[in-house]
Amino acid sequence: MPETSESDERNQREVWAREVVARLHDDHAPLTDGVPADYIPELADVDPDTFAISVAMVDGRRVGAGAGTHPFTIQSISKLLMYGLALETHGREAVMRRVGVAPTGDSFNAILLDEDDNRAPNPMVNAGAMAITDLVVGDSIGARVDVVRSLYERYLGRLPELDHHVWASEQATGNRNRAIAYLMLSRGIIEDRVEETLDLYFAQCSVLVTCDDLAMIGATLANHGVHPTTGEQVVAPEVVRDMLSVALTCGMYDYAGEWVFTVGIPAKSGVGGGILGILPGVGGLATFSPRLDQFGNSVRGVKVFEEFSAQFGLHLFDPGRPWRPSR
Ligand code: DON
Repeated sequence: MPETSESDERNQREVWAREVVARLHDDHAPLTDGVPADYIPELADVDPDTFAISVAMVDGRRVGAGAGTHPFTIQSISKLLMYGLALETHGREAVMRRVGVAPTGDSFNAILLDEDDNRAPNPMVNAGAMAITDLVVGDSIGARVDVVRSLYERYLGRLPELDHHVWASEQATGNRNRAIAYLMLSRGIIEDRVEETLDLYFAQCSVLVTCDDLAMIGATLANHGVHPTTGEQVVAPEVVRDMLSVALTCGMYDYAGEWVFTVGIPAKSGVGGGILGILPGVGGLATFSPRLDQFGNSVRGVKVFEEFSAQFGLHLFDPGRPWRPSR
């Protein structure tokens, strides 16, 4: 008897989610504010109108609207997965020696270190992300790219492809990242294989994913690191806790404070146009739309998250969370 009411409730949630996702897609499709990233020339080569919203629940159910299977580069969303890999491989203490957890309030590519502790501020800005990439084990770029691809494989359920044009475009134009990386070398924060680590960082950003993939990554993290459909323990629960903590405080760059206040969902965005949100114990919510605001976050994506969170009372500190539809 209780089982029936539990599954009734899950079915009811799915119906609500389907209605809300379809409505949010229709409501926000006409919004054309913002511009796709063009500081990496190849990134500008997208259809700016492509739009997707995807939800994956911890029980593996999926709901979506729009171009959920359209591939795009994961960009900075990779930073969250790579942080988890570093924590699992090297442990918290070793990682914290190189990268802290303090939000900066500065842009993602700020040339800024934590001077007091001689480390990068946090793993979600480029400095911290490259210090994390430096921790990928392997004696050649090929071996290290394989480590990264197999990390993605566990989350995606398939070995990912890289967009080689975007990868090459980042290599050719990434001089600001080069400056940050060499500054970290001069301070002893990263090892003396800077060009290789930069190359690997550009590779991790150039991995192709879909909005449906991002939602399932979110559902895996929401499910204590267990992939809802493969059943694999992709990442340890205590590592997920650390990943979600920095996603909540630093995942949306200099918009992070407003994001926590209005949306209250741990999330990570990328300049490719994706946003990945994690609803602990419930599932993953993802959006894809390449037009970005001044912070580098997807304009439609931010609006969809704001409304989805309000509609279902999904702010982490909402008294009725989870799944109290406010209508
Ligand atoms: O470092 C860069 O320029 C990119 N490969 C990643 C940037 C990114 O996605 C930052 N995001 N919002």
